[in-house]
Amino acid sequence: MKDAHGRTIDYLRISLTDRCNLRCVYCMPADGIAQVAHDDVLRYDEIVRLVSVAAQMGVRRVRLTGGEPLVRKGVVDLVRAVAQVPGIEDVSLTTNGIALARMAEGLHDAGLHRVNVSLDTLDPADFRAITRGGDVNQVLAGIDAALAVGFNPVKVNAVAVRSLHQDYFRFALLSVEKPLHVRFIEYMPVGDSAGCGGAGWGPEDVIPCDEIRQIINDRCAQEGLEGLVPVDDSHKPTGGGPARYYQFPGALGTVGFISPLSRHFCGDCNRLRITSTGGLRPCLFSDSELDLRSVLREGSDDEVRAVLARALHTKPEEHEELDHARATETNMNAIGG
Ligand code: GTP
Ligand code: 5AD
Ligand code: SF4
Repeated sequence: MKDAHGRTIDYLRISLTDRCNLRCVYCMPADGIAQVAHDDVLRYDEIVRLVSVAAQMGVRRVRLTGGEPLVRKGVVDLVRAVAQVPGIEDVSLTTNGIALARMAEGLHDAGLHRVNVSLDTLDPADFRAITRGGDVNQVLAGIDAALAVGFNPVKVNAVAVRSLHQDYFRFALLSVEKPLHVRFIEYMPVGDSAGCGGAGWGPEDVIPCDEIRQIINDRCAQEGLEGLVPVDDSHKPTGGGPARYYQFPGALGTVGFISPLSRHFCGDCNRLRITSTGGLRPCLFSDSELDLRSVLREGSDDEVRAVLARALHTKPEEHEELDHARATETNMNAIGG
């Protein structure tokens, strides 16, 4: 599938639910979210049909996100069904890891081969504060379980926020002794997290990835260690996302940087997003949304195809400036990152 700007679109991110068993300050309001009526959420058979039609049009990768996808009942069966859709070569999942220790084996058996786990700090108290109550040890156990059952690659996503004072160096070192791919994501000030409610952070909390890399390399120099070097293509973890990868010499894993703000990657964007209620979003930073749910419920495959084609046509060339305004009012939990 090509969009109006000549980009190949072959990656579908599907949010299975807005709900989550955590309440990260940059993602969700403190008192949780309004309950979405059960009937408004896409059913699994509707998702599988959507993936089949999209695969006929050229989609090759599917990422399941949330909220937290593992809190939705029957998710293992959905993974199995999506992995079997002809044409789909890569199924992946982005999770907070809380339920992963318990579910890793079942997910792997169902045909999921790789996972991305969101984790912003190794410090138990900071983790509790960021997630409003979570236990970091559950996530660490989830990551270990993912490695133990053979997920490959296992990526760890840390959202970097200036006022959180995260220890980037300590975090990056996770990639040395285990085959973990640590990625730092620039905080995107969108939704409630952008100054109103939520954490009350704003654009001044965006920390450019180049600065994070510099901080890590400065610490390496202080400790007499070699710093990060770029990873050549053959050593990059598999995936279809926008991260740029580096590595500590001799490390088993890598350190990646995702810089939607300081160095946006719209020119290489390859994806469309589906919200849990079947809204089709051409861009993460725009609230423009097409209704897929009603055509999935009432329309033919051709009509589903037509909505996907319209999204390709309306996908913006690049996102709006985020410095001064909130490009999207929607909280991340509703889009899945
Ligand atoms: P793989 O490389 O295939 O593993 O996927 P990924 O890195 O795209 O997936 P993941 O869900 O781990 O995404 C990491 C985060 O990067 C997302 O949650 C977003 O925060 C950010 N990101 C990914 N894609 C985009 C994009 O198209 N635009 C923007 N602005 N941010 C994105
Ligand atoms: N800015 C950057 N990343 C975010 N995520 C959630 N909210 C934000 C935000 N405001 C990340 C999560 C997870 C992925 C799905 O999106 O940490 O890794
Ligand atoms: Fe849940 Fe992920 Fe949002 Fe945190 S960032 S509240 S773990 S969906």
